[in-house]
Amino acid sequence: MEQTFAIIKPDAVAKNQIGDILAVTEAAGFKIKAMQMTHMTRKMAEGFYGVHRERPFFGELVEFMTEGPCVLLCLEREDAVAKWRETMGATNPANAAEGTIRKRFAESVGRNCAHGSDSKENAAIELAFFFAGNTLV
Ligand code: CMP
Repeated sequence: MEQTFAIIKPDAVAKNQIGDILAVTEAAGFKIKAMQMTHMTRKMAEGFYGVHRERPFFGELVEFMTEGPCVLLCLEREDAVAKWRETMGATNPANAAEGTIRKRFAESVGRNCAHGSDSKENAAIELAFFFAGNTLV
C-alpha cells in the first residue's frame, strides 16, 4: 500500500464541492487515512510551494491558496501517487481527461481545485509538512 498527499483547494471548498470530490476519491479506491480543514497562512503556502518560488505564478498561487479554507488529505491505495494524479487529471483542466476531478470541478490552471504529490518522495515530505505524528492512522 502506498500513501499520497492531496488537497481540495479553496475554490472547490467555497463551491461546496468537498463531498463530490471525496465521493470520486473513494469510488476510485482510495482510503482516506487523515483529513483536516485548514485555512493556510501565507507562511504555510509559501513553505509548501517553495519549489515554485521563482515561477511567475508564485504570487498568484499563494494568494489563491490562502483565500479560504482547504481540505488536507492523506490517501492510501496501491500505486496511490500515480493513481491520484490520474484521478485528478491534468494540472490545466483544459487538458484534463473527461471524468477526472479537474475536468469536472476546476476553473483554470491557477484555480484547479485539487493538488496531488508528484512522487513517493514528495508525498512523504508533503504529508510530514501538514500531518504531524499520530494524526496519520
Ligand atoms: P499543484 O498541483 O497544486 O502544484 C502547483 C500549482 O501551481 C498547480 O497545481 C497550479 O495550481 C499552479 N500553477 C501551475 N501552473 C500555473 C500557471 N501557469 N498559472 C497559474 N498557476 C499555475
